[in-house]
Amino acid sequence: MSETLISVEGGCRLSGKIAASGSKNAVLPIIAAALLSSGTCKILDVPKLADVDVICQVLEGLGAVLSWQDKELHIKTTGLSSYEAPEELVSKMRASFLVMGPLLARMGKAKVSLPGGCAIGARPVALHIKGFEALGASVRTEQGYVLAETAGLKGARIYLDLPSVGATENLMMAATLAEGSTVLENAAEEPEIVDLANFINSMGGRIRGAGTKIIKIDGVTELGGCEHQVIPDRIEAGSYLVAAAITGGELVVDNVIPDHLKPVIAKMQEAGCLIREEESSLHILADGQLRAVDIKTLPYPGFPTDMQAQFMALMTRAQGASVITETIFENRFMHAEELRRMGANIRINGSSAVVEGPSTMQGAPVKATDLRAGMALILAALAAEGRTEISNINVIDRGYDDLVNKLSGVGANIWRSDQ
Ligand code: EPU
Repeated sequence: MSETLISVEGGCRLSGKIAASGSKNAVLPIIAAALLSSGTCKILDVPKLADVDVICQVLEGLGAVLSWQDKELHIKTTGLSSYEAPEELVSKMRASFLVMGPLLARMGKAKVSLPGGCAIGARPVALHIKGFEALGASVRTEQGYVLAETAGLKGARIYLDLPSVGATENLMMAATLAEGSTVLENAAEEPEIVDLANFINSMGGRIRGAGTKIIKIDGVTELGGCEHQVIPDRIEAGSYLVAAAITGGELVVDNVIPDHLKPVIAKMQEAGCLIREEESSLHILADGQLRAVDIKTLPYPGFPTDMQAQFMALMTRAQGASVITETIFENRFMHAEELRRMGANIRINGSSAVVEGPSTMQGAPVKATDLRAGMALILAALAAEGRTEISNINVIDRGYDDLVNKLSGVGANIWRSDQ
């Protein structure tokens, strides 16, 4: 069977204007949260991504009716007919587990395949389950499925052992239709949590404090329809900043909320990039020698783990030694091996990687091991001598909307081909 590859002929300096699409990690829980509504939800600026297709299929399997008008998605969940998300879909995308909270709240019952580990780590869901139990559900795991049931969820005070993004989202959704008030402590503070809370509130939910460590949810009995525009994808935008920097180029990255990129902008400035913030765009100029800087991934507002691989690619071109420490996922350095194949000098020691630069990168056949690792390879390829062929690109299509066209539009020599 033929495989589609992404090929890049390196050495082009990027310049021009490139726009981020709607955020993948915001829209996935938002689509799941539409299950809470008794009306029609109109979601605007939905990116065209394989992961969005999967969550849409999950909803259709539950009996929701979905329709598209370009990038606007309409979801009607009045006639839900199932409370089960099957293994075929959950195994394609862990975020399918986000239907558990809304299903439990709306139907009193949910059966969702237990997501397994993935390329970047074990990624358990124990915090989600503990939270559902605290809200009064009985939860058991049976033949690879998590089954949760309740005669009615009741608000509770829940302390999350760590600020899990998915657990915060799942519990916020479940608590929205619970009786009484819920307080989530040590909640995740990511912008995607705020977007989900805004979406739920625009359906009639009562959530306060999203974006801080303490979120208060007053339960309501029913939610109506709404119209909501998804926030821009901060990781996609950050990846384009790196594309400019690694090619010594100059880009205007449009459709950005600059505040969401503060930790990334700070590190890129430290590395020698000139970045100017406008209201909804970022202008980056990177025509000097890059300097090595250290990064440590942390929950928001720290440096995002979803930008770690791209930053590692950038550091291969910087002068000096950069120490990159990954604290969120235990196995998120798979791109280092592939970057080495292109000429990078990277040593891994436990949860840290030391990148010695600058290396002259050379095109090579490489494999995308996960979404952000794949992007890191494309970025390295843009700065490499000769041609790089990237395989397993389905993982890249999970999270970058129209990537090849967008990068071609600012001068990259990049294309898809069947092998
Ligand atoms: N964790 C637990 N127990 C739990 C839940 C999480 O130990 O019950 C651990 C995880 O194993 C991990 C850490 O907590 O080590 C953080 O996981 P979190 O739950 O916050 O991540 P997630 O919700 O599964 C989302 C994004 C990821 C992003 C992380 C961290 C979505 C759909 N996914 O995952 O995005 O890396 O938050 O910011 O929102 C990506 O887009 O490439 C991506 C992987």
